[in-house]
Amino acid sequence: MTEDDRAAHLGLMQTAFLSSDDDATLRGSMDLQLADAHRLGEFIDGELVGSACATVRELTVPEAVGVEALAVSWVAVAPDQRRRGVLSGLMRRQLSDAHEAGGPAVAALWASEAAIYQRFGYGCATTKVDYRVSAKATFRPEIDLGDDRVREVAPEDAVAIARPLYDAYAARRPGCWRRTDRDWRYRAYDPAGLRGGRTAQRWAVHPDGFATFRAKHNWTERGPDCTIAVDELIATTPAAHAALLRYLLDMDLSGWLTVSGATDDPMPVLLENSRTAIGTLTDALYIRLVDLDRALSQRRYRTPVDVVIEISDALCPWNEGRWRLSTDERGGATVSRTGDPADLATRATELGATYLGGTRLTTLADAGLVTEHTPGAVAALSAALLSERAPRTLDVF
Ligand SMILES: CC(C)(COP(=O)(O)OP(=O)(O)OC[C@H]1O[C@@H](n2cnc3c(N)ncnc32)[C@H](O)[C@@H]1OP(=O)(O)O)[C@@H](O)C(=O)NCCC(=O)NCCS
Repeated sequence: MTEDDRAAHLGLMQTAFLSSDDDATLRGSMDLQLADAHRLGEFIDGELVGSACATVRELTVPEAVGVEALAVSWVAVAPDQRRRGVLSGLMRRQLSDAHEAGGPAVAALWASEAAIYQRFGYGCATTKVDYRVSAKATFRPEIDLGDDRVREVAPEDAVAIARPLYDAYAARRPGCWRRTDRDWRYRAYDPAGLRGGRTAQRWAVHPDGFATFRAKHNWTERGPDCTIAVDELIATTPAAHAALLRYLLDMDLSGWLTVSGATDDPMPVLLENSRTAIGTLTDALYIRLVDLDRALSQRRYRTPVDVVIEISDALCPWNEGRWRLSTDERGGATVSRTGDPADLATRATELGATYLGGTRLTTLADAGLVTEHTPGAVAALSAALLSERAPRTLDVF
């Protein structure tokens, strides 16, 4: 696509995504998200009928390593051209372009529907827990809130405070994207059309953390029962996490708090009655190994391992075959082609799912998605791939 296709691209997105956003709101998102993007379009008789965009950004992978990754987004096919292979063609082209350019070794995306992308080699690498918590829910008595105050600041002052805190957090947590100036502008982009009936975004800060949130009103005959909906809560110390959560839970007029966390979020152990928080597990970031050998040698491994993996990958045939993955004493790995017999066999999709250290290879093996040839090989690779902390992805794109 070129700049001349912008209006057609906006129209395609509005139609395919059943969007009610006005042009100006969507154009604002597009300008912030796609300024540096590689934009692929499919045209029929000069009409744009499909799109797939990708921006190079830095992603944290285990353990505390930042790697370049393709952030794939704005994927859509016109309703009258669906199920004729348009998306398949765009995915094939996007991945082969990336491979030939020798750029990022991994690609990542959020899926509108969970069934779409596994066929293209994307595995679900980050999951999240969406908690709905009873407002005023009490913490265990041992929980230390520290002495530092939580206060609210104006949105225009908030980013300067939040940015170093996010940087410190994201550098250590797999699944987090580094945020540029433009990414922060997108984070603070808050047009009325995107609020979904909730208030404008508010920012609560603490010396070691921050939270962005909105309120959704609900006034009932029994009194106010509003929901405090947290967009993002980041803390670099346990006391900051507890203090911010306490501030949000204790809002007057609220009946509920909604907040998302990683699968290792401390929510259930902070609360005196863990059942006051009910969590729903959903898929978050999907990872695709574009160049498997480069991707696997970019991250670190928790335990030593030396295995031969047989990979099938019809969409990216350069990844197919047998690869030896051997770790060194510092947790790095070399990954090279081998003629040795395979210890285990799987698809690129499954390795993508394990790439951020949150999905156990043993779980995928239990589902029959990994075949073990050498006893113990799956358990050994599974342990090596796990990260110290569960991956968490906050930036939705
Ligand atoms: C999702 C979408 C991009 C698919 O485009 P498409 O051109 O119809 O996809 P293709 O024809 O290349 O389909 C390839 C395969 O994926 C399957 N598939 C496509 N969309 C699917 C979906 N939403 N759910 C389940 N399977 C899907 C097709 O059935 C086909 O399977 P087959 O190879 O076994 O026949 C399109 O339906 C769309 O724009 N949807 C609305 C917006 C959206 O959700 N975009 C994705 C954002 S992450």
